[in-house]
Amino acid sequence: ARAYSHITSEARGPVGLITLNRPKALNALSPELVAELSHAAVAFDADEAIGALVLTGAGEKAFAAGADIKTMSSKGYMDMYKSQLFKEMDQIAQLRKPIIAAVNGFALGGGCELAMCCDFILAAGEITAPHPTHPSLTPHSPLTHPSLTPHSPQYHFSPLTSHPVSPAPNTAKFGQPEIKLGTIPGLGGTQRFARALGKSRAMELVLTGDLMSAEEALQRGLVSRVVPAASLLDDAIATATKIAGYSQPIVAIAKTCVNAAFESSLAEGLKLERHLFYSTFATEDQSIGMKAFLEKATPEFKHQ
Ligand code: CAA
Repeated sequence: ARAYSHITSEARGPVGLITLNRPKALNALSPELVAELSHAAVAFDADEAIGALVLTGAGEKAFAAGADIKTMSSKGYMDMYKSQLFKEMDQIAQLRKPIIAAVNGFALGGGCELAMCCDFILAAGEITAPHPTHPSLTPHSPLTHPSLTPHSPQYHFSPLTSHPVSPAPNTAKFGQPEIKLGTIPGLGGTQRFARALGKSRAMELVLTGDLMSAEEALQRGLVSRVVPAASLLDDAIATATKIAGYSQPIVAIAKTCVNAAFESSLAEGLKLERHLFYSTFATEDQSIGMKAFLEKATPEFKHQ
């Protein structure tokens, strides 16, 4: 295994966990970090023992605060063109296995774009909807937990308004602030923001550089769930472990079909889905899954 210095990469059972690890620079995406990230992600994608990936950021403050401005500041057009800066990032969106972004703190610029390259986003925040299948991962509401007072660091939203009282460092914040630097998003931000948020809010955020709270990101469908920061990683790993328990080829087919909804017409997407649905009947895992259901047993998928 390759040694990494800007990320960490470890197997947690059947889950490949990648942590962006430059907390002092708020996990800014230097070319070295991006190269290591895509190397580690591709390695997990090829590892038969791994069924799903989780991507997160080290430290309390950030998932990733964007491309590394220090590295970029002196570049000219031909430097960017010739080096094809961030080309490797495209590999994250092309993985066959699901990758979940566990977003703690700032996800800005390239950091927001990286999170949006993942298959879905769990965000650290203060809304405590029950975990759909892991009730033990649903903590006490931050507003009612006896150990939490309005002065506790976990208490960030007023019960009546749900508006931030004092934004916590580990609460997810999303934005594309490139406009403030005299540039624009370059890793998919204008496209994926627009698809996720709709034109109006995407345009406003890209043109103002304003940040969006985890709560708003949830309301607008950018993130799938908001989880207290303390249980974010456990939740992401539990969710990835659940997915990893299913058939890898079938999971890949399901992912392909959902992604097709964003890249094709409805008619084409429906056609692809129907053909791929039929194709699952060519796998052993479909027989295993349906037989186990009828026998009231737990299926043991063979990933074939
Ligand atoms: N690149 C390089 N270093 C960064 C960085 C970045 N994107 N973001 C933060 N850092 C560094 C800071 O320079 C600082 O380093 P020093 O201690 O050496 O000064 C350290 O991380 C801590 O940051 P701050 O002191 O600024 O922390 P803060 O709490 O005051 O502010 C912040 C936090 C609002 C996120 C602020 O750091 C910030 O605005 N960062 C830049 C965000 C940004 O503009 N991102 C877009 C980058 S461009 C891009 O991503 C293009 C693309 O689409 C590919």
